[in-house]
Amino acid sequence: MKYILGIIVALIVIGAIAGLIHLYRVSRKNKKEMAQYTGKSAEVTNSLGKVLVVYYSLTGRTKGIAERIAAKTGADLFEIKTKEQYPGGVKLYTTSKKEIKTKQYPAVESFPDTAAYDVIFVGAPAWWFTVAPPVFTVLEKVDFLGKKVVPFSTQESVVGTFFEDFAAAAKNARILQHESFNNMGKKYDEQLDAKIADWINGL
Ligand SMILES: Cc1cc2nc3c(=O)[nH]c(=O)nc-3n(C[C@H](O)[C@H](O)[C@H](O)COP(=O)(O)O)c2cc1C
Repeated sequence: MKYILGIIVALIVIGAIAGLIHLYRVSRKNKKEMAQYTGKSAEVTNSLGKVLVVYYSLTGRTKGIAERIAAKTGADLFEIKTKEQYPGGVKLYTTSKKEIKTKQYPAVESFPDTAAYDVIFVGAPAWWFTVAPPVFTVLEKVDFLGKKVVPFSTQESVVGTFFEDFAAAAKNARILQHESFNNMGKKYDEQLDAKIADWINGL
């Protein structure tokens, strides 16, 4: 019994240390990434035409990025809303994992009408190293023929196959350079605007 308890404690300690090392590495990477935008202009100088920003956001992070993109490009915003709310806690993770595994994505309230737009940004949180399921629901339905599509993700730190999966699901889209945003908190907000502008100016 003592032996088993010892192993369990050792595993917990190893897990905690690995977690802390990961957090430290991510925070160093974030700092390095954002340093390159310090003092850079946050102004968007290229014109993309008529722009729509479509996004799904459960806890507000993707919504925040979508709003920053819209403010810089004069875009309209379209929020994807699920018909049924996701459960909280662990069930959120198990439900979404099952949706991704079975490709049975959740019903959404409505779909964006992309007809009037030249460029469509589509943003989602990374869930289980891929696109959050409600965005797959939209990608399955919308035909992007003749449209330029710009994907973006938000995540804690690991995006996995998000952009490959997105490209495979976005029908007929001409996909432009994507961008991804780790959760860094407010301390990088100024650089965040410069990062968004730098990305959009390069499209
Ligand atoms: C079900 C679920 C799965 C997640 N999977 C990942 C992941 O694979 N990689 C990651 O870095 N973050 C992951 N996250 C964290 C979210 O991507 C991150 O918090 C995101 O910025 C939240 O966006 P939102 O506030 O717009 O909902 C996950 C969150 C949830 C709820």
